[in-house]
Amino acid sequence: MLDLPHVRSALSEHYDLTPSPEVAEAMADTYARMARVVTPPDWAIYAPYVKAINALKKERNAVILGHNYMTPEIFHGVSDYVGDSLQIAMKAQEVDAEVIVQAGVHFMAETTKILCPEKTVLMPDMEAGCSLAESITAGGIDEMRAKYPGAPVVTYVNTTAEVKAASDICCTSSNALQIVNAMESDTVIMTPDQFLAQNVANQSHKNVVYWPGSCIVHEQYTAKDLRDFREWNPGTRLIAHPECPPDVVEEADFSGSTSGIIKYVTDEKPQKAMLITECSMASNIADELPEVDFVGPCNMCPYMKKISLEKILWVLHTGENEVLVDPEVGAKARASVQAMIDMSRKLGL
Ligand code: 13P
Ligand code: SF4
Repeated sequence: MLDLPHVRSALSEHYDLTPSPEVAEAMADTYARMARVVTPPDWAIYAPYVKAINALKKERNAVILGHNYMTPEIFHGVSDYVGDSLQIAMKAQEVDAEVIVQAGVHFMAETTKILCPEKTVLMPDMEAGCSLAESITAGGIDEMRAKYPGAPVVTYVNTTAEVKAASDICCTSSNALQIVNAMESDTVIMTPDQFLAQNVANQSHKNVVYWPGSCIVHEQYTAKDLRDFREWNPGTRLIAHPECPPDVVEEADFSGSTSGIIKYVTDEKPQKAMLITECSMASNIADELPEVDFVGPCNMCPYMKKISLEKILWVLHTGENEVLVDPEVGAKARASVQAMIDMSRKLGL
């Protein structure tokens, strides 16, 4: 675990991180992308970190991959590439950098390492896990194979390298349905997200059997919440991530991956929108879409929220928290991830 008081005092010996309205003003263009959701005093606190991180990235030949659930100062301030799990995994393969800092959760950093074994992948906080990734081990995949002999295993990328290695192909929320449909067998095993699997099953002709994992953020929403919300605030467009339970997805106007949600809101520009997903999603697109009123509650992912500017600066400065994957496991996991990427490209996704 990072010793934050130590991190703070060590960083202050090398960088001027005192809140500064002058530094904030000098980066007014960056601030403009989050001005609707970040107050000027907060930006004066973040700006010296953003300045230090962006300078250090150049020195270290590093890039930062930011998931859509990062807070705005990370998403807009220091991320070189942003997107959903699939997009940032694919970007990792293209970037010409020695070091990749994964502003996201641990399984995303592992996916990057699996795809780019020659690059140094750093995690700002090793404890940024995921309830889905923690719900299954490679032994769970063996159990499912024993129960459904011959059925292919489609595994959500929200899993460890060992679990990916034990699977036939990976999927993300943006391609799960198409990948399941493309399997030759009538029965398809999906792991580890029971709700993603049920949502896929509801749209597929396949017999989808699944592992009982779930996301602690999305499982909290209920269909009744959505109905109550519609009644309280009529005319709001409800947009849900497919990790939500199926009756929630049914009640919503649209369901898609994090980038699918952004695309939908950007294209449709509803007057009022409630994003049934992690809190930062709405914050990150609020300034680009001033005509949309983002309303309603949201749930925070405690794992994603472990990532901060301070921790990003620390790992870039020290090179600590390198993510390593056993080469043999990595090669097998890579085959599953690459099979997904190849199939996504083939299907034009
Ligand atoms: P996306 O692949 O849609 O970005 O989702 C990742 C995730 O962890 C959602 O909870
Ligand atoms: Fe995992 Fe859910 Fe957090 Fe996504 S939101 S990282 S699925 S716990």
